Amino acid sequence: MSTTVLVTGGAGFIGSNLIRWILRHRSWHVVNLDALTYAGNLENLRDVESDPRYAFVYGRVEDAAAVSQVLQEYDVCGIIHCAAESHVDRSILSVEPFVETNVRGTLVLLEAARSHGIERFVHVSTDEVYGSLGPNDPPFTEESPLQPNSPYAASKAAADCLVRAFVHTYGMPAIVTRCSNNYGPYQFPEKLIPLMITNALDDQPLPVYGDGQQVRDWIYVDDHCRGVVAAYERGRIGETYNFGGRSERRNLDVVYSILRILGKTDDLVRHVPDRPGHDRRYAIDCTKAERELGWMPEISFDEGLERTVRWYLDNQSWVQSVRAGEYRRYYQQQYGWRMG
Ligand code: NAD
Ligand code: DAU
Repeated sequence: MSTTVLVTGGAGFIGSNLIRWILRHRSWHVVNLDALTYAGNLENLRDVESDPRYAFVYGRVEDAAAVSQVLQEYDVCGIIHCAAESHVDRSILSVEPFVETNVRGTLVLLEAARSHGIERFVHVSTDEVYGSLGPNDPPFTEESPLQPNSPYAASKAAADCLVRAFVHTYGMPAIVTRCSNNYGPYQFPEKLIPLMITNALDDQPLPVYGDGQQVRDWIYVDDHCRGVVAAYERGRIGETYNFGGRSERRNLDVVYSILRILGKTDDLVRHVPDRPGHDRRYAIDCTKAERELGWMPEISFDEGLERTVRWYLDNQSWVQSVRAGEYRRYYQQQYGWRMG
């Protein structure tokens, strides 16, 4: 019988890239459970929606009855849990949805996985649970303490702890992955790279928080997706695997690189007030994933950024439809000064 995997949050940025990657590289069937929040967009999967190995189910991960029905109806044997509220700035404005989806949703999914005898559960988490690094600190390893600083990071750390407790207490066959900042096609233009590309294309100001010297470790989304599948297939139960791109960059340098690729001038850059509690630096040591999973990031930042800018240039109707929707209304209401 063929393997059926449930991907939660498959209409989002990483989930949609993951589903596309799985359908291309594996013979599995994939069920996508997604609540289609502002970040969930079925356009992201238009090219695979008629694949007989793919099915979409509309629903929330906190809805125990819906989750249970999906697991039963599709005879799901494994879960890759991507669904989340994912944007730090939104978590600063309103914490509750982050606790509801990221914490309670993960708990409901774990309970359902347990009662349905799911064989594999990969919880897709983030390096933000480790907190912030100083300029000379070594990168985060899987042994780094959990020190989440934003409500988003705290909700992800809480979910990670629930996964750990289910492994320890109930023998849940679960694995946690923690990845650094992703970029690539279909990323909602509220995150740094797609926001800067789409604003620059419209000759709109590029809002850089504070001094723009914060550092992130960028990974092309396909590299992350390969890592998640490697963890699903070869990860040891109860273990955590870090993924990163070995590509630390200061935010301002990322913005300047985008402007250079687009042939735009630096005077679009605007320094705006800093994000409250802004983490200064993330960097990931992914030696364990390289050693145990035989995984490594393959796409350099320069190549990935060129590809990403090209994708946004070639898909301006996607950008326009996203920007005409809730995204624009939300940000004009909350952050009119940032939209220019
Ligand atoms: P995203 O915001 O683009 O997508 C989230 C998806 O989850 C959307 O399709 C949304 O509709 C869905 N969703 C939200 N709440 C839901 C609910 N209650 N029930 C069902 N579906 C719901 O996020 P992303 O950037 O693709 O991130 C995916 C996962 O990867 C998240 O768990 C995030 O924490 C993690 N992660 C993201 C990054 C990154 O750089 N984007 C890095 C590391 C880890
Ligand atoms: O590290 C992994 C995390 O990366 C994921 O878990 C999150 O889901 C994802 O959103 C991302 O979090 P960040 O806060 O690092 O990403 P964001 O794209 O929001 O911001 C990247 C950096 O750019 C950060 O230092 C804040 C800054 N920034 C961001 C925006 C949106 C700006 O200077 N201006 C902006 O307008």
